[in-house]
Amino acid sequence: MKLGCGVSWVVAALLSFSGTVTAQNVVQFGLNRGLPGIKLGSLPPLARRATYTEPLANNITGGGYYAEVTVGTPGQTVTMVLDTGSSDAWVVSYKANLCTSARLQQQYGDSCGQTYNPASSSTYKLVERGGFRITYLDGGVAAGDYMADDFEIGGTTIKSLQMGYATQTVRGTGILGVGFSANEAADTKYPNIIDQFVSQGLISSKAYSLWLNDRRSDSGTILFGGIDTDKFIGPLEIIPILKPDSSAAYTSFEVELSGMSLAYSNGSTFNVSMPKSSSTLPAILDSGTTLSYLPDNIAEQIFSELGTYTDTQVTGLTFVDCAYLTSERDSVMTFNLGSAAIAVPVYEMVLDILGPYQSSLPSDIPFGNVCLFGIQTTAGFQSSGAVTSSNFALLGDTFLRSAYVVYDLTHHQIGIAQANLNSTSTSITELKADDSGLPSVTGVAAQQKASTTASSTSGSGSSGTSGSGSAPETVTVTASAKNAAAGVRPPRIAGDVKGLLAATGFFAVVGSALVIW
Ligand SMILES: *[C@@H]1O[C@H](CO)[C@@H](O)[C@H](O)[C@H]1NC(C)=O
Ligand SMILES: *[C@@H]1O[C@H](CO)[C@@H](O)[C@H](O)[C@H]1NC(C)=O
Ligand SMILES: *[C@@H]1O[C@H](CO)[C@@H](O)[C@H](O)[C@H]1NC(C)=O
Ligand SMILES: *[C@@H]1O[C@H](CO)[C@@H](O)[C@H](O)[C@H]1NC(C)=O
Repeated sequence: MKLGCGVSWVVAALLSFSGTVTAQNVVQFGLNRGLPGIKLGSLPPLARRATYTEPLANNITGGGYYAEVTVGTPGQTVTMVLDTGSSDAWVVSYKANLCTSARLQQQYGDSCGQTYNPASSSTYKLVERGGFRITYLDGGVAAGDYMADDFEIGGTTIKSLQMGYATQTVRGTGILGVGFSANEAADTKYPNIIDQFVSQGLISSKAYSLWLNDRRSDSGTILFGGIDTDKFIGPLEIIPILKPDSSAAYTSFEVELSGMSLAYSNGSTFNVSMPKSSSTLPAILDSGTTLSYLPDNIAEQIFSELGTYTDTQVTGLTFVDCAYLTSERDSVMTFNLGSAAIAVPVYEMVLDILGPYQSSLPSDIPFGNVCLFGIQTTAGFQSSGAVTSSNFALLGDTFLRSAYVVYDLTHHQIGIAQANLNSTSTSITELKADDSGLPSVTGVAAQQKASTTASSTSGSGSSGTSGSGSAPETVTVTASAKNAAAGVRPPRIAGDVKGLLAATGFFAVVGSALVIW
């Protein structure tokens, strides 16, 4: 990804403000005990603000999108799962139980990736010994200390970021939670990465934009502090984030899912019948979730339309005929979220990742080539006791790849539009501290033409107006099934059901628990 080249000089300019940042760090340190989200009147008004772009590696079998960051001084490189569904950043300790025990690796079907060693960092600080603990659905935990250390992402450094330091974990990769600090696992809430981005004067508004990009592409990006109007099509629709109840703080990126439909290539449409209009269906936009989950009564309608098969005996998972990767290429599933309508091609919901596990699936599946369906039901969460109601939707990567989503934690708004896939150009609108909400911006006129010659990078595609000169044209998505399969890998765990479950791994905070399914 050649993003951010226009940004790097700003980063260089920022480095020269490091004196200022250090001064603010002192102010910020006093905020550790304060409430998150308080207004920082003490920021120097002339502090230079900018936006930061971080590439995200697309790894479906590894459970999502990864950001490569460095922690400590000198920086130790670690990859972390980018997760809008949780709010703590945590790294795996070099001596974590999982990293040193073959038995645990076998049990949890994971091993350690890059780990972190506090003894090798001159900027490490212990915040609370034994204070970090997140509970998983399966009873496992990620636990250890809360620590603080310098954290480099997207070419900029956040000083002394509080993070979990997991010495006990069932996952070998840390998680970078970018949700509301009210949803942190800690008893005492602390300023998390998004809070620190703003309080250290690196960006102006607690907001970022997520573009996961095409499934067949290796990477997407997260842009902190700005909106890239070359990465989406048409107007950015602005919708409110729902609050679970009137007294509570905003805890997750919940928006209202008001309708769904399926439009087939032959022109016929199937409208999903939604719950009574009196009850809104909250949908959580969660990048840390690989698949999407809908309440039973909605999911079943789609399952029956597409003739899927649900394995109620062993895995609880719903499978779909891989034939959809090639047939019904023009069929789309539309999700209505407030004023936005996001079209997800049906083949985006067909995950050809079962590989050798195909043979261990139930024998009564009515199709020969079995794919994992990108939509599952929320019933499993309820029966596992993780949540008390299954009347919510969790829109994970299978949905999010088709959308460009701006998460505005300051104004409690979501900006959303159809993604412009594979866009190679960049046109960034910076979000300002004194904006009263997300700005009204418009993306490009149409999906960028599928072209391998990246010669149209010069088109600036300024926001608001129609693209000048190199206006993109509408194209039909014609990627072959072979390409689609090339972007995914079979589950990594040798074994049975465990592999299937790991392949669908997701992270979301439901209530106070971080759940991995
Ligand atoms: C994807 O994730 C798996 C499991 O974490 C890992 O083994 C594999 O190397 C990753 N692939 C890429 C291309 O990063
Ligand atoms: C259109 O295609 C869908 C899916 O193949 C099918 O269920 C439906 O009956 C078709 N409609 C018409 C009018 O042919
Ligand atoms: C689905 O809803 C749309 C818009 O409300 C409507 O135009 C269309 O006729 C409906 N289709 C069916 C099959 O009910
Ligand atoms: C995006 O690029 C990938 C290859 O990296 C290609 O397979 C896919 O078809 C492209 N998507 C679109 C919408 O052009």
